[in-house]
This record gives sequence, structure tokens and C-alpha cells, in this order.
Amino acid sequence: MLLGVATLATGAYFALTSITRDWFEADLELRSRLAVAAAGKSLGEQWSGPAPLLSGTLTDISRDERILGVTACSTSGTSLAHTEGYPTVFSCEALGNGNQVPTGARSTGSDGWSMGAELPSGPVHVTAVALGEPQARLGTVVLVHDLRFLSRRETTTRNALVVAFLVLAFGAGIMTLFTARIAWRSWTAQLRRALAQGGAREFQPLLRDVRELASRLASERDHEVLSGRWSPERLRATLTQYLSGERVVILANREPYIHEKTADGIKVVHPASGLVTALEPVMRACSGVWVAHGAGSADRQTVDEKQHVAVPPGEESYVLRRVWMSEAEENGYYYGFSNEGLWPLCHLAHTRPIFRAEDWEYYKSVNQKFANAVCEEVDSDDPIILVQDYHFALAPRMIREKLPRATILTFWHIPWPNAERIGICPWRDEIIAGLLGSSILGFHTQQHCNNFIDAVDAFVESRIDREANAIIQRAQRTLIRPYPISIEWPVHWLEGIASVEDCRASVRRDLELAPDALLGVGIDRLDYTKGIEERMRAVDELLTRYPEFRGRFTFVQLAAPSRTKIGHYKDLNDRIVRLADEINEKWSSGKYRAIALRRAHHEPPEVYRYFRGADLCYVSSLHDGMNLVAKEFVAARDDEQGVLVLSEFTGAARDLTEALVVNPYDIRQASEALAVSLRMPAEEQRERMRSMRRVVSQFNVYRWAGRMLVDAAETRRRDRMVGRLSPVGRGRAAGEVS
Ligand code: G6P
Repeated sequence: MLLGVATLATGAYFALTSITRDWFEADLELRSRLAVAAAGKSLGEQWSGPAPLLSGTLTDISRDERILGVTACSTSGTSLAHTEGYPTVFSCEALGNGNQVPTGARSTGSDGWSMGAELPSGPVHVTAVALGEPQARLGTVVLVHDLRFLSRRETTTRNALVVAFLVLAFGAGIMTLFTARIAWRSWTAQLRRALAQGGAREFQPLLRDVRELASRLASERDHEVLSGRWSPERLRATLTQYLSGERVVILANREPYIHEKTADGIKVVHPASGLVTALEPVMRACSGVWVAHGAGSADRQTVDEKQHVAVPPGEESYVLRRVWMSEAEENGYYYGFSNEGLWPLCHLAHTRPIFRAEDWEYYKSVNQKFANAVCEEVDSDDPIILVQDYHFALAPRMIREKLPRATILTFWHIPWPNAERIGICPWRDEIIAGLLGSSILGFHTQQHCNNFIDAVDAFVESRIDREANAIIQRAQRTLIRPYPISIEWPVHWLEGIASVEDCRASVRRDLELAPDALLGVGIDRLDYTKGIEERMRAVDELLTRYPEFRGRFTFVQLAAPSRTKIGHYKDLNDRIVRLADEINEKWSSGKYRAIALRRAHHEPPEVYRYFRGADLCYVSSLHDGMNLVAKEFVAARDDEQGVLVLSEFTGAARDLTEALVVNPYDIRQASEALAVSLRMPAEEQRERMRSMRRVVSQFNVYRWAGRMLVDAAETRRRDRMVGRLSPVGRGRAAGEVS
């Protein structure tokens, strides 16, 4: 500010000095001419007279104190007379011919000239005024004015200016401060009022920003704890470090290993289930107990008296506890309420949910049965229990009733729709209340978390802490968190698998295709949410619009039969078979088939062989919480080739942004994406695949589980602080998150 004032004052001073100097000099010239004109008559008479007389007149002229001296010069440049002390540097002789304008002087017309000069005593101004008529010129009178008074005036002016500017700046500063203070007061008063009113609308963005900042800080903390590559070892270490190595009990309807009777003896089957794909590696890393429905025909034969079987077969690292169900229970709880009620309720796939009161009764009693089994398996009164999926919405509260100090992490593997849709379920309140028995309730996306919180708001009595994303019901606090699920990395099924070239060749051989045939693959349970019909129509459209692929491109669909007792699934099965036949009839020529439909269960090594042998994979779900098939395809392609075409309605589309993302209902768009995939240069395929592999390897299932366990440790620490849990667990507490 002071610098600004100084600059302004200096500028103004120089401008003013130059203007006033010009004024003064013009004034001096005028005064000189007037003085000479006034004494003109006497001067004329004395000009050629005795010098003392002329000197006297010159002295009269110089009475003005600012005149240093006056001299009279003849036309030939000799001095006729001068006043006392007249500076000799300006003598007539030194100035030359008085009628000539000396160098450096400025002519003031026919009657003289003027100039500024510097004497040791200070600045002077010299003015020469011609005497006599131009045709009868007598000579010149030269007057030397002292300009020191002018310098003094200039200094005074400069000081006055600086003072004036300082006063002005000070005044302006005070005014600004004053105005700012008034504005600040009124703003803070408004803000206080707004906050007191619970956040007026106009301040909501501000509050949101603050919340976002807080959650960003929290996620940065998470980031530190969770950054870097996650592996089974790291997950195990996390369990030991943060949770004192407590063993984990998982509750999931589907078991990871099914024992089936076959003609060749008992066979182990790995079910087609995204849930199992994700959780089995976690259990192998953590060890503990997996409580599930014993659904295999040889399951009873393979358990001990506690209904336990050690798994995985041959490399036993955890226990599978099987729970048995009667056919009526399975019909009511699994086929009925879970898969004809909740499954279509939560998926926007245009299939009406069916809610039967008998199914609901079974759902309740079977949830209780499994909750009891879980409580039998725990080895402390504050165990860590992971409850999985829509089959067990009531179990968290049931377990909580028996084990109030348990840490219950529930994960909902399918979408959670908006409150309006959830509202159509006759037992929505009980479902929500059951889930609120959990310590943490996880969904794949923030959108599903928001939908759940909205449903809580709409249907149950509770306090919603929107900042912490938590629901508080009596003493129970449930955190609602997004945890996008993933797969193991590296995938153990890929160990020792055949090369991509061999897989390409063997898959084409099996499908009776030419060695250079182009191949697309789809791998799903035969479920109406997967968009299998839309996928086949896209293939048909591709062949219609792009003749170059006719006879060259085949799409192989591996479809695992699923929930076959349910009418909608049977109908879907029939429709798909018919559609594949229609399309094949349309495009077949010789041995060529556009669609190869394989309706059978395929074990993981077979699935991975197809992934590696294909040119593209199309995941066309109409609605899917995550979809791990997409991530498995990416994991399979260590050659960094192959294109993923992915429905925008999957959770995976948020993670795998380098896929060709399509709306599966838009058959034309999907067919274009298939064409683009088949024509995509190898380099572009590599770039996309490399980037997706980086994402999946980084955000693998160990990280998913690690995040939940770290959050669980945090809630346990909190619970211990408020006295709900014993101060120290059975192991170390020192390593817990602080
Ligand atoms: C989805 C569900 C899983 C289920 C899987 C297979 O992924 O979220 O809980 O295990 O489908 O279905 P199924 O009825 O055969 O277990």
C-alpha cells in the first residue's frame, strides 16, 4: 500500500513540476519583456550615452529580488553596461551577437530568446529582450533570473503532495476496513442464522463442501492404510494386526464346494456364483468357518458329526459348516422369498416380484436356523461375522440378539433399488430392521448406499447421521459403506493354464470352427438379469449390418442352469434356445453357426480357457450389482489382447472404464461395439486391456476384504471405548487402528 502511495506521489510530483516550471518560465519571459518595455524610453535615451546612466536604469529594472542581474548588449555583441554582480558567463561577449539566438536557447520571436541554465549557486533563467524597432534595432537587454525560489517551491509542492497522498491512502484504508468489517459481520450473522436453522438452502453447497472435505480426509487416511498391492498374506496380516487374529465366520447361502454323487464317485463342484468367486479366496487367506446350505447330493456324506468339512479339498485351510434344509424350507426361503421376491425386487429387469406369506414365514425361520448355526461356530462373545447377501436380511439382527457384542459386517451383493420400489415389499420394514442389526452394511456403490438410507428414512424409526453415513437405532449404530467387490489377483485357476494360442486353437476345435474364426464369448448363469436375449439379438444385428462378419464370427454362450424350479427361469431357458435356433437358421451356411449355446455348468478352468480363446467378451446385464465375469475376463488375458464389451448397468462399468461400455437394450449400439471390437487394432486392445488389468490387480478382493476389516477394527475400537466390548480382545490390541 505504502509503495503504491509513494509511486503515485512521485508520478504526480514529476508531472506537476514540469507543468509549473513551464508556467514559471513563460511568466519570467513576460515579466522581463514588461520590465524592459516599461524602461524602454529611458533605455533608448541612455543607450548611446554614458554607461553610469544606463547602469542606473538597469539597476532599476533589477530591483525585483528574483533578478540576479541585467546587462545591455549592443547589436555588435559588446557590453554597454551591466548591474553589479552580473554573472560573467552570460556577458554580451560570452553570448555572442545579442541579435543571434545562442545555442541551447529558445527563440521567443523577433524580439529575443530565453534559456535555462545552471550556476554554482543554483538554477537560473536567462531572457534576452530586443530593444528598438526591428528596422532600427538598438541592441538587447539580457536579464538573469534566480530560479532557486522555484526549486524551493517545488520541494514544498512535493512534500505537500506526499502528505496529501498519505492522508488519502490512510483514509481509504480506514474506509475499506470499516466496510469489510460491516460486511463480515452481516455475513457471519447470516451464516450463524442459517446453521441454527439446520442449514438454509443457500448454504447447503457450503455444508456439502465441508462434509466432502471431511470424507476426503477420512478416505485419505484409508488410502494410507490401504494403499499398495493387496495379497492373501497382507489380508492375513491385517486380520492379525487390526483384529488380533480373530477368526472370521462367514454366513452365505451358497457353499464354495458342493459334493455331488456321480457315476464315477463323489465329485467336487465349484458353483457359478459371483459371491463364491469373491469370498472363497478371502476365506483361504483368513481361515475360519463358512456357514452355508448343504445343497449337494453327497454333501451329507462328506461332513463330520459337527456338519463340518475342511476345505479346499487337498489344501484344507478353513472349515465349511453345512446347514440342512427340508424341501419345503428350500422352496419357501430360497426359491420363493429370496429368488422370486427379493431378487426381482432389487433388479430392474422387468420381472415382477412375487411375495407369498408362506415364503416369508420360511424366510424368517431359515434365517433363524442359520443365525443359530453361526452362533454355534463362534469362539468368543465378540466375534467377527460376515453375513452375505439377500438370503440373510434378517440374520444380522437375530445374531445380534444372541451376541450383542459381535461385529457383524453384512454385504449386499445385488443392487439396492430406490425407496419407492423397496416399498412394494410387504415386509420391507422387517427387512430393513434386520439389516440394521449389522455393525457395517456394505453395498457395491454409493448409489445403493444412498438408496438404502432413503429407505430407512421412509420406513423405519431411526436417527440418520448423514455426515457419517450411519443409522442409529436405540444403542445400535450401523455404518453404511460402499465396498466395490472384486476377484482374487492373481487368479489361482490360471496357474499352469495353457497358452493363449493353445486355448484359441482348442476352443475353436471344440466348437468346430475354422482356426482363424472370430470368436465372442458370454459366460453367465441362465438368469433374466443377464440380458442374454439382448446379447444374441446384438449378434444378429452385427451380421445383418456388417456382412464381412457373416460366416466368420461366432458367439459362444456358456449358460449355467440356475434356479431351474422357478417359472421365470424355465421360460427364459426356452426363449433362449428358440432365439439361438432362429438366429442360427438365418445365418447358417455349411458348418457355420452364428451362436453356439452351451447350457451346462462349466468348471472354472474351462471358463478361463474360453476367456483366453476369445476375441471379445460381451457382458450385457440389464442390471447387476458388480458382475465379476467382466473382471475375470480381464484377469484371464495376460496376453493383453481381447476386447470387453460391457453393459453400463453393471457396477463393473464404473471400474472398467476402458471397456466398450454399451446400453444392452440398444441393440444397434451393441452391434456397433461388437464390430468395433472385431476390427480393433492389437495396439489399442493392448492399451485398454493393460489399463483394466492394472485396475483389477490393484483393487482386488483382498483389498475389498481389507477395507471392511479395517473399518470393522475401527468400530470395535469405538465400541470398546464406549464400553460395549471388553477392553482388550483375546490377542494383542496394540496393533489396532487408532
Ligand atoms: C448372485 C448372488 C449370489 C448367488 C449367485 C448364484 O451372484 O448375489 O448370492 O450365490 O447369484 O446364485 P445361486 O442362487 O445359484 O446361489
